Amino acid sequence: MYEFRIEAADKAELYRQLVEAAEALTAGEPDAIANMANISALLWESLPDLNWAGFYRNVGGELVLGPFQGRAACIRIPFGKGVCGAAAASLEPQLVEDVHAFPGHIACDSASRSELVVPIVEEGELIGVLDLDSPLEARFDPEDLAGCVKLARLLGERLGSVAKAPSGS
Ligand code: SME
Repeated sequence: MYEFRIEAADKAELYRQLVEAAEALTAGEPDAIANMANISALLWESLPDLNWAGFYRNVGGELVLGPFQGRAACIRIPFGKGVCGAAAASLEPQLVEDVHAFPGHIACDSASRSELVVPIVEEGELIGVLDLDSPLEARFDPEDLAGCVKLARLLGERLGSVAKAPSGS
């Protein structure tokens, strides 16, 4: 149904196309779970050398697993724990070249070597985090970081009003 052919000569162009596709995929759709599911599929298909791509949601001050692609993962992560928890607690993206050197890294998949986690914030409130894992050391660079920050900004706008809902409201 959706055909996104994301091919680019460089990363800046790759992320430009990714953000454009994410905009089109989420436009007019208020369901946060559906949007996160489609975005994780889009990332999985478009970015090479990943072993996990997806979301953790802020549910009452705890990160809870959201839609993703990859192996089954840890379900709940306290703020401040691991790479995702560090991003949630600081509201700062975490680019980790070697997860084995990151204190408290949570090894959901022992194949993971590097990781990029970007907080999704809307109106000062943490909605969740976007998490990318790779089996390659130093897979992510500042261009991936910049691209994912742009994507997270869009997702904040698109997920903000509804991402808080799945806990029950
Ligand atoms: N490695 C992460 C946990 C989530 S999984 O990678 C999917 C961390 O340390 O936060």
